[in-house]
Amino acid sequence: MFTVTGEGPVFHLYNEFVSLVLAVRTDPEGGYQEVCLTHFGYPIDEPLNTLDRLILENGSSNDSLRQIMPYAFPTEGRGDYRVPLFAEAYEDGGNCTELYYEDYRYAAGKPKLEGLPQTYTEQDDEAETLTIILRDPLTKLKVEASITLFAHRPAIASSMKIVNEGSEKLTLSRAGSLCLALPGHFDMVQLWGSWGKERYVQRVPSATLVRSISSSRGASGHEHNPFAILCDPNADEFSGRCFGVSFVYSGDFEIAVQENAYDQTRLVCGLNPRSLDWPLAPGECFQTPEAVAVYSEQGFNGVSHVYHDLYRTRLCRGYWRDRPRPVLINNWEGTTFYFDHEKIMDIARSAAALGIEMLVLDDGWFGQRNNDHSSLGDWFVNYDKLPRGIKGLAEDVNALGMKFGLWFEPEMISPISELYEAHPDWCLHADGRPRTTARHQLTLDMSRTDVQDFVIESVASMLRSAPIDYVKWDMNRNFSEIGSSVSNRHGLPHRYMLGVYRVMEALIQEFPTVLFEGCSSGGGRFDPGFLYYMPQFWTSDDTDAVERLKIQYGTSFAYPNCTISAHVSASPNHQVGRVTGIKMRGDVALGGNFGYELDLPNQTTDEEKEVIREQVKLVKKIRETTHSGVFTRLLSPFEGNITAWSYADENRVILCAYRVLSTVKRGPVYVRLHDIPQGTYQDQNGKTYTERDLMNAGIKLEFPRQDFASMVTIFEKVK
Ligand code: GLA
Repeated sequence: MFTVTGEGPVFHLYNEFVSLVLAVRTDPEGGYQEVCLTHFGYPIDEPLNTLDRLILENGSSNDSLRQIMPYAFPTEGRGDYRVPLFAEAYEDGGNCTELYYEDYRYAAGKPKLEGLPQTYTEQDDEAETLTIILRDPLTKLKVEASITLFAHRPAIASSMKIVNEGSEKLTLSRAGSLCLALPGHFDMVQLWGSWGKERYVQRVPSATLVRSISSSRGASGHEHNPFAILCDPNADEFSGRCFGVSFVYSGDFEIAVQENAYDQTRLVCGLNPRSLDWPLAPGECFQTPEAVAVYSEQGFNGVSHVYHDLYRTRLCRGYWRDRPRPVLINNWEGTTFYFDHEKIMDIARSAAALGIEMLVLDDGWFGQRNNDHSSLGDWFVNYDKLPRGIKGLAEDVNALGMKFGLWFEPEMISPISELYEAHPDWCLHADGRPRTTARHQLTLDMSRTDVQDFVIESVASMLRSAPIDYVKWDMNRNFSEIGSSVSNRHGLPHRYMLGVYRVMEALIQEFPTVLFEGCSSGGGRFDPGFLYYMPQFWTSDDTDAVERLKIQYGTSFAYPNCTISAHVSASPNHQVGRVTGIKMRGDVALGGNFGYELDLPNQTTDEEKEVIREQVKLVKKIRETTHSGVFTRLLSPFEGNITAWSYADENRVILCAYRVLSTVKRGPVYVRLHDIPQGTYQDQNGKTYTERDLMNAGIKLEFPRQDFASMVTIFEKVK
């Protein structure tokens, strides 16, 4: 719903869960009009309270007042020293920008952003969009700030279109997507990590300094995820005010939070200014990606529930969005580069016999790729390994009743490759400097249209040549020497990302029923931007069941289960050497896009195969619930020895609990469930419970006497 009142005017976007108020203040001294964000959070009736009015009526030509204005679109250079949303550099060296209110537009629905990932609506009544038009009176720079409020969700999407309507060339050094001005102090929760340790939860207490997370690696990265929560200091998983922020983008980003001495907090989210430097000539326009902000009074789970539902249904797209994902077997951890047609068929036959639905052939099927030193870019079949080609292999796999999937790393080039011999200038490089390799490879310059077209054609011609149902899209290094043969470095990381988005869009349009899965040395580009093109992501190269508890728990803060790929691998585990049982490994993976990652005939005993058969059966039975049900975190692996979470929909509740180390039994441990739909439920032993029993009395956790133990209880709804 939307109201606009007063001469100011004051804009109020609201629904039953959230209100956002943008107030235009006319400066009593200067006469100019600035836009302030006077409220974002709980639903309110009166858009302005007395405090807001006092702030708005003060003159701000004095810099001490500029420092306390809750600006919605703050700029650089005019006495507000906090982190700005926008900053421009002019040819004469100036960097001062003022953005004054000019006009607004309001419309039902959500406009489409060209060439960028985005949340979307299917009907116009699912959202409403307010566009505020701002202008710098001196340079004529125009900003159109679009804020969409989703119906029946405490969520907004915000993005900016910047148009140079002046006569002077300028450079955008900062072009943010969202600014929140919030009264009070907040803890910041963020997801940090490294390779094999993605999205660990970290809570940083309130402090009067800039807390920022970012990437300047060319990908959203393993180190920080483009996601944060600002929360009350006493907020937890179930209660407390929280503001979630998520950036729908896969490259360099920054989320910066700054508190001042006047109990005010500003959050700015957008492209990383370190690598933007975007030249904007007269007449040109720049569209920022969008950021999605969420408000909840039900703690971190409350924030996650909103993102899960929005991203599952209105960010992910296409044929696979609502469909249960096939249980797969991937050969990577089982064979690495050492396989041939027969070896893969042995795995496929063994998998088919256990009910597994798809075989994925990973790295090593192309060029001369027998290790990671060569051949990226040479996307033609290695007939020494696969005499019947990918087509022959895929057909043989299909004959077993299974789908077939294939690995690519399309954005890369090995210096030892036919592609590099033909096009040494196609990689990112800085003239006169050595080319830094990582995993023996360089990055293709995806900002070039000819390179984009080559990548589209390489992947498309393979997909046209054989019955391929799934693609794993990997990206195993970050940028260095960010330069190009055809353009200067300005804005190159963003142009790279736009190139990747163009390529992915072309491929998903041509192959709408292929299931695409993102990957980046595990989960190094697990972000909402990617999920717009590929509805699932390989969560981490660390497949150890104990390590995965933290990785999957943290990932679930922002991302729904239907995007989180989770596989059972061999024991001892490849990455950490830990020995865990097949049950624990299966129970940890079962809620994600489930699969196996081992040499099934040679790395499992007959007994384990029988467990696998039951696991596959169970996953097929419950996967609709784990895909679309409400996922709730109950006990955190970051806080104790026991982790628990649950999935709930109209049919059943699934409680999963894991104990890392065995301890002396000192009385029963109970876990209370949350967010359970009303009804009567029955567990595997025929015992019945109401939703109130599950949420108030809780369930007794019983583990076998051993380390690395798990328990999965399914409560079927009986009425
Ligand atoms: C990356 C991926 C792995 C695997 C290898 C293959 O590390 O994360 O899953 O595909 O590449 O080289």
